[in-house]
Amino acid sequence: MAILIDEISRTFGEFLLLPGLTTKEHVPSNVNLRVALSKHKIGEEPRAHLNTPFVSASMQAVSGSDLATALARKGGCAFIFCSQSIEAQAEMVRAVKEHKAGFVESDSNLSPSNTLADALKLRQETGHSTIAITESGQKHSKLLGLLTSKDFWEYKDDLSRPIMEFYTPMERLVYAEEGVTLQQATEKLWKSKKECLPIVDAQGCLQYLVFRKDYFDHHSNPDELTDEGKRLFVGAALNTFDYMERAKALLDVGVDALCFDSSDGHTEWQAQSARTLRNKYGPAVVIGGGNVVTAEGFRYLAEAGDVDFVKVGIGGGSICITREQKGIGRGQATALMEVAKERDRYCKETGIYVPICSDGGLNFDTHIIMALALGADMVMMGKYFAMTEESPTPKITFKGQRYKPYWGEGSNRARNWQRYKQSEKPELVFEEGVDAYVPYSGPLGEKVDVSIAKIKATMCNLGVLTVKEMHQNARITRVSELTIVEGGTSSVQQLDRIQVQS
Ligand code: IMP
Repeated sequence: MAILIDEISRTFGEFLLLPGLTTKEHVPSNVNLRVALSKHKIGEEPRAHLNTPFVSASMQAVSGSDLATALARKGGCAFIFCSQSIEAQAEMVRAVKEHKAGFVESDSNLSPSNTLADALKLRQETGHSTIAITESGQKHSKLLGLLTSKDFWEYKDDLSRPIMEFYTPMERLVYAEEGVTLQQATEKLWKSKKECLPIVDAQGCLQYLVFRKDYFDHHSNPDELTDEGKRLFVGAALNTFDYMERAKALLDVGVDALCFDSSDGHTEWQAQSARTLRNKYGPAVVIGGGNVVTAEGFRYLAEAGDVDFVKVGIGGGSICITREQKGIGRGQATALMEVAKERDRYCKETGIYVPICSDGGLNFDTHIIMALALGADMVMMGKYFAMTEESPTPKITFKGQRYKPYWGEGSNRARNWQRYKQSEKPELVFEEGVDAYVPYSGPLGEKVDVSIAKIKATMCNLGVLTVKEMHQNARITRVSELTIVEGGTSSVQQLDRIQVQS
């Protein structure tokens, strides 16, 4: 007879944290969110770590190079999706590794014959108000000038007029030549009191733009995660099919961490693939495995797969219909608690700590906090990042609200059949994810700052200063449905939520 596990599968919303003693030391500025990304002997430094315990899901609608850049600047790591060609994925990794802080590639470019109406349309699409005017209208062509909102009046000028009548030409611009350092560029911006400094090559073709606002931005990212050469840190996903070829291409362009992307990682395929990579590239390469929801799954990947970290979670993702389609999965809190217990047991036996990552279903900052308290070293999120400016999808407006598309890797849209081995054929037989929209939530940096502020504030309430201390000292209580109701507002009217009747 099948084994029945009597314990109920539980999820984050069923728990609350109890405060501990908050001493004068327990202030947010003393909280350190640095966590290990790779396995390590107790007492030794891990080969890789995160400054912020956030990683982004390997999904087409989430982890492109812009998002990876923005997340590394906040101290986390993106895993660039593998449901694309090896060349395209390696190119995304390369773009992050070659990112020169403060030097941005112009994404808004037009030619002088375009109209003001074209400029307004482009501004709406990109959200950027500085448009480079180049000979061909492409970003690396000869730079002729810049068009900003100061060059024309949207409601007064004739929008059908060509840009050539309005833009500020090179003779009146301050610019610099390629090779200039960020410090020199910033100095030039400061002295000229300009907002934007174009950088051109010897032929006068546009290479980068340096913005005054990025100078301030840089100063507000003290947690930036970089490699030894001060290049931004980035991860990439692998499948168990073309992993040898893919890993080589990714490592060649400088990827910092690899991670198998599979809905069920408790398989011989994954363990053997991870081992093969380990044998070829040695202990230095960081390899993540998963997903698992059981103690056995964790131990199998740690032992047979020799992986660096293990992702936990099946069926909890916001776009996921795996539980409905196949009836497998586990409440995320229960899965996490069981795997964290096994990680600690494994650590006691071997002296080796294998970090775990809670993947999927984190809908609120309180869920992130609870995942960390229940034993996760880091969290992987899809929806959270898909909503941000830097995710690779365009914004759309519906009934006055802005949204971004978000689809599962197991949906027909992504067709990531390697992630969902459903048959021997290279196709999805049935969908395990939906194709949807999520509200637009603005720039990633601002969103992460708020989440981090909440995590740090809660940790101060608990009387802990590190994620490790949180694992050891958090006291968690189960809540009744009425307690959850009690936690919301009661018998009050919030003015902004009252429907105005006319
Ligand atoms: P979210 O943060 O709740 O949006 O969940 C993201 C996670 O869902 C990813 O990291 C994957 O583990 C998982 N996932 C991605 N695509 C699919 C899918 O199509 N079906 C089921 N799970 C998915």
